[in-house]
Parts: sequence; C-alpha cells; structure tokens
Amino acid sequence: MALPVVDTEYLKEIDKARRHLRALIAYKNCAPIMLRLAWHDAGTYDAKTKTGGPNGSIRNEEEYSHGANAGLKIALDFCEEVKAKCPKITYADLYQLAGVVAVEVTGGPTIDFVPGRKDSKVSPNEGRLPDANQGPPHLKDIFYRMGLSDKDIVALSGGHTLGRAHPERSGFDGPWTQEPLKFDNSYFLELLKGESEGLLKLPTDTALLEDPAFRPYVELYAKDEDAFFRDYAISHKKLSELGFTPSSSGSKGVTNGAVLAQGAVGVAVAAAVVILSYFYEVRKKMK
Ligand code: HEM
Repeated sequence: MALPVVDTEYLKEIDKARRHLRALIAYKNCAPIMLRLAWHDAGTYDAKTKTGGPNGSIRNEEEYSHGANAGLKIALDFCEEVKAKCPKITYADLYQLAGVVAVEVTGGPTIDFVPGRKDSKVSPNEGRLPDANQGPPHLKDIFYRMGLSDKDIVALSGGHTLGRAHPERSGFDGPWTQEPLKFDNSYFLELLKGESEGLLKLPTDTALLEDPAFRPYVELYAKDEDAFFRDYAISHKKLSELGFTPSSSGSKGVTNGAVLAQGAVGVAVAAAVVILSYFYEVRKKMK
C-alpha cells in the first residue's frame, strides 16, 4: 500500500478514530492490551535492515501467532471495529493511535501523534521481541537493534504500570501494580520495594535494578513522576515512529498548507472581482 496522503480529510479520519478508540477503550477497559499491541507492532524494528516496525504487519496471522504475541488477537479484533468506522486510516496508524489513546485515557502523559504510517504485508521472522526470562544484555541487544537507548528501555518498561500477565498467554501471572488501569509511576515504586504480595516482577523488570546504566532512571522515575511522564512521552513517540519519516511538512504543515492554499484562492477571487468591477465602472462611464 502506498503512503497515505495526510490531507485534511485523513486528519479528520484520525480525529474520528481517536474518538472511537477513547469510547471503545473506556467501554472494554482494554487500555493495557491496546498498548501492548502498539508496542509489539513497533518493537520488531531493525534499524540496520530497516525492516519491521510500526507498519501494521502484526495483523498477519503469521505474525500475531508468534509466541510473544499470544493474546493480541483480542486487541486486533477491537481495532477492526474502529477500522470499520474509519476505513481510510492505515492499520499502522490505527495501532499506534490506539497505544497513544490507551496511555492518555488511563491518566498518562499526552503523546504527540504524527499520522502517515504505511501498511506492510511483510512480517519479520519470529524472535525480534524481548524474552522476559533474560537479563540486561538481552534487553540492550533488542532495544539497541531498534535504535533505542538505555533511558528509552527504562522509560518504556514503565508501560507495565498498566495491565497484567496471563498464565495462558505468557506463562506469567498477575499485575505489576495495585491499580493496573491507572498510568502512573507506581511500576518503579513497586520495583524498588522488592517482593510485594501478589505483584509481578519479570526477570526483565528486575534487570532494570541490576544494570548501572538502568538503575539511576528507575530511582529517578520512582521519586519524580513528572520526569517519568516527560521521558515516557518522548520514548513512546520514538517507538511509535521507528522507521517512519513523517511527510516533511508534517501533519500541521499539511493542514496549514491546505488553509494557505484556500486563502490564496480566496485572495485571487477577491482581486478578480475588484478588477472586473473596476472595468465595468469604467465602461459604464465611457457610455
Ligand atoms: C522490556 C521488555 C519487555 C518484556 C520482556 C515484556 C514482557 C511482557 C509480558 C511477558 C507480558 C504479559 C503478557 C500476558 O501474559 O498477557 C507483558 C504485558 C504487557 N506489556 Fe510488556 N514487556 C516488555 C516491554 C513492554 C513495553 C516497552 C511496553 C509498553 C510501552 C509494554 C507494555 C505491556 C502491557 C501494557 C502489558 C499488559 C497487557 C495486558 O494486560 O493484557 N511492555 N509484557
């Protein structure tokens, strides 16, 4: 599929999809799985080969049946409900918009969303997403491959403030925080507390405490929620735009461009009317 034309009409479709997503997420209480869907579509990116990334390919059965994606068919089907009402939006944009809305409606930071992602039918091979049973070197391998940093790793791991693990999907069980439908910095507070009754810590979560490059960010985000929200919004935007170059004018540029063009036409018409009426007056006087 070609790059979507991000014109005024497409931007209207994005606004409409955003409203439908807000309603759907509120009704189904499905913010966590929508965020996980956005992350798993984007998190396959390989900066070297420029393959994978937020391109909607997770909708292919071949990809959503990867072990790491267990359960995500539920979120894909929710998104189909929105796609049916907003058919112009690409899947790639729809999944990333769902992630942004999921964070927003659960009380998290506002994340800048730039539309225009292209859909792909090509799925990457299995094994690009992180394995929860591993430690810091693995996390670095996976995220550096995407072109992301240590800080991005810690900030994005804070996404586990939402949701829970399901034994039948990942083999892990339970939520990371006391309020898994609220986006806040409690993931980091719980991580520093150590074992808490009933709360989950994956080996990749505790890896954030073990590595000297990660730990200072865990401590910072635990004591300063504003710092977490600021960094999370930046890292989430990066993740959602891996391999995507927004059209040079950007969405605002396109709108402004359209408005400018309309303005120019208006000025030209007004000038023509003035000129014609002048000649009309002159001719009338000459008669
Ligand atoms: C750092 C490496 C990561 C690993 C190893 C990892 C692993 C996992 C696992 C095993 C689950 C449980 C799935 C289930 O049983 O339903 C899960 C859930 C989840 N993950 Fe991650 N994850 C990682 C990073 C992220 C990132 C970067 C985000 C978002 C920014 C994220 C968001 C979520 C959410 C929201 C859920 C809950 C889904 C639900 O409640 O259905 N994760 N993750």
